[in-house]
Amino acid sequence: MSTTARLSRKTILSHDIAEFRFESLDAPFQGIEPGAHIDVHLGDGLIRQYSLCDWDPAGKWVAVAIKREDGGRGGSRAAHALQEGAVLKIGGPRNHFALKGHATPVLLLGGGIGATPILAMGRHLASTGADVRVVYLTRSRADAALHDAFTALALGDAYRLHCDEVAGFCDIDELLASHPAEGDIYVCGPEPMLQAVLEAGKRQQRPHIHFERFAAAPDRSDAPLGAFEVEVNSTGQVFTIAPEQSILGVLQEANFSIEFGCSEGICGACMVNVLEGEIDHRDSVLADDERDQNDYMCICVSRAKSGKLKLDL
Ligand code: FES
Repeated sequence: MSTTARLSRKTILSHDIAEFRFESLDAPFQGIEPGAHIDVHLGDGLIRQYSLCDWDPAGKWVAVAIKREDGGRGGSRAAHALQEGAVLKIGGPRNHFALKGHATPVLLLGGGIGATPILAMGRHLASTGADVRVVYLTRSRADAALHDAFTALALGDAYRLHCDEVAGFCDIDELLASHPAEGDIYVCGPEPMLQAVLEAGKRQQRPHIHFERFAAAPDRSDAPLGAFEVEVNSTGQVFTIAPEQSILGVLQEANFSIEFGCSEGICGACMVNVLEGEIDHRDSVLADDERDQNDYMCICVSRAKSGKLKLDL
């Protein structure tokens, strides 16, 4: 589902990060939650996913913070080139990084621009009086574009800004060890930070670490690609997916209208239920327990271990 929206406010937060507020010109945005992201349609086929950092409770507007990556693939440069008043399509919101419940203490870790969903979670948890601690990790004070917004949560000592240039690299093991073993930990940030948290979590045998990536997982399956068949349950049509093809691409060519976003297995927009067959998960969205269920898959990148999959389409 997409919404026509206007960029109603663009606020420069730092040398390379700006906040973009999109106001719906259609019905109010639905399904807004901490951890959710939107697809921003930037023109010329560019669609990029950005986590919500703020929103209007009635859904009239949503806001994201975007870091300009000059060496990136062009999405963030296109976003930063937008001027207030620009009208564009917004997909979602959708959420694959939801808060699961917070009866126990919650530790929120945000690294760099990955702190945007962490800010939304922090604001929500603070408003409910939950026992929450927030650590915002950046390279320098100049990079800490969201520091004022975190400070506004009035968490006192439960909020800490850690700048590597000032305090040296953060000792992730020590940070995790300082959090009660039963407490939930939510983390979003650059891959090295994410890996450090996940590895420390394994060493400390912590079962409650929730994370979101904004790039493909480095350990994503790269087993050889084989051909397989896909059956569309509603029509009975069977398609062969050749090694160089994706299920999404083949079904789009056959004129199926399927929601999608990143086409890289990161956003979860193309998730489809699977009725039969064994999935070869190659996305960076699903957690291990979700993969083990073999119930749904990202059809932009994932494939089949069995010769055929039956999709609930
Ligand atoms: S389109 Fe983003 S995961 Fe498939």
